Amino acid sequence: QILILDFGSQYTQLIARRVRELNVYCEIQPFYDAPELTPDIKGIILSGSPCSVRDAECPQVDLSKYRGKVPILGVCYGAQYMAFKNGGHVLPSEIREYGRAKLSSIDSKNALLKNITIGSQVWMSHGDTIKSLPEKFKIIASTPTVEVAAFQIEDEPTYGIQFHPEVTHSLEGKQLLENFLVEICHCAQDWTPDVFADVTIAELKEQLGNDKVVLGLSGGVDSSVAAMLIHHAIGTNLYCIFVDNGLLRKNEYEEVLASYKNMGLNVKGVDAKQQFYSALAGLSDPEEKRKAIGRTFIEIFDQEAKTIQNVKWLAQGTIYPDIIESVSVKGPSATIKSHHNVGGLPAKMNLKVVEPLKTLFKDGVRLVGKALEIDQKILGRHPFPGPGLAIRILGDVTPEKVRVIQEVDYIFINHLKITGLYDGVWQAGAILLPVQSVGVMGDERTYESVVALRAVASVDGMTADWVHLPYDFLSDVSNEIINKVKGVNRVVYDISSKPPATIEWE
Ligand code: XMP
Repeated sequence: QILILDFGSQYTQLIARRVRELNVYCEIQPFYDAPELTPDIKGIILSGSPCSVRDAECPQVDLSKYRGKVPILGVCYGAQYMAFKNGGHVLPSEIREYGRAKLSSIDSKNALLKNITIGSQVWMSHGDTIKSLPEKFKIIASTPTVEVAAFQIEDEPTYGIQFHPEVTHSLEGKQLLENFLVEICHCAQDWTPDVFADVTIAELKEQLGNDKVVLGLSGGVDSSVAAMLIHHAIGTNLYCIFVDNGLLRKNEYEEVLASYKNMGLNVKGVDAKQQFYSALAGLSDPEEKRKAIGRTFIEIFDQEAKTIQNVKWLAQGTIYPDIIESVSVKGPSATIKSHHNVGGLPAKMNLKVVEPLKTLFKDGVRLVGKALEIDQKILGRHPFPGPGLAIRILGDVTPEKVRVIQEVDYIFINHLKITGLYDGVWQAGAILLPVQSVGVMGDERTYESVVALRAVASVDGMTADWVHLPYDFLSDVSNEIINKVKGVNRVVYDISSKPPATIEWE
């Protein structure tokens, strides 16, 4: 594996994803928790950082335990850190070095730069720059304004680059990373979704033995893939529970339950609509609504799990970004969070937790799902929040409002599917506003609800932009909604990005 030491850069996770895309397994560790060198570590990447190496409190790591023993690639701060620590000069850049630059000279015999072309576009993003290198550090690439764009330490597989190969704006960045992984670290590029699935299933068999496991399915990608991995390992000892909270999309409960049964899962559907509606009655504060839904889910799941004799484990679809958070540059205090999809559940139930996806990113989860031949309908689904339509009905939730927003959502999503736009949109849905407006239908005055449509493009939900859906498309969807859904006479489209807005309205 490749070890990525994180100094807090916004791009650290992106480095990890690129390495995984090259079929090499890697893990991120915060700089203050740098592990000892073990034989399975084939190379080390030092990330960037929002800090400057000139700050007294900048992130530090003792590299002597790695240097010369295993290849090292410092990216941006990582490169500056090595130069600075060995007596080089790192100063604030005279010209702000952000954005595109072109490599104007390259040592093409250097293994790191194999097949990288002169004039290759790279992405710079740094306030500091290496002004002079220590002895034994030699320049291997430059741009017109950054002389030390890349360096190597003589007779050592230690490299530094001041640009970011992990972002797509560095057009040959992936080639450079592949050079590091394959030519320099001699990684085998054999970490594929199939291998991950086989290895994980074997490990789960070992870990779980004949124990019984309970898992809450949500209809989403993560819990479905986690369930299938465990199902392959222990078969009918996996007990899945799929709760109808009355806040799902139209027909979703029946359809998803049917596909789970087709996949051979041992799944119990629980109709708990009334419990959720009772728990939500009269609540209009978003946080109170979320808490009521979370509490009710735990009660129901706990009740159902208790009917399974001798269950020992709770399985969850936790993924890598839930576990690692960007390193706080202030130190270890505010760093790694332990996230659970259903907060509080493991503690209450006194079960051991198994999380087979906890080393994967979302795109990796989808690829493993594909390797396991899970239905594309489940793998390609847009994310849908745990509290469901309750956080898309602003104000209090009633069964009638759920019906209205289910119909609206159904028309919107269906149009996205039939026009081929669905897969290009990261997430979409409809929101019922607590607003009535005047309209006219035939000769009659109407006074009915307003709904908003939202469609966003995103990579991980942390930031998002609204999708520029075609006007004709919006016009068709709006007409159908107003004509077919009783109680709605006006449709608006949300054109806010995140930040400053969020994806959900509550
Ligand atoms: P926001 O609204 O924070 O949403 O921009 C980002 C992503 O998270 C989803 N989301 C949730 N998912 N429980 C969930 O499981 C929640 O309480 C929750 N709130 C938001 C949202 O749908 C989007 O994909």
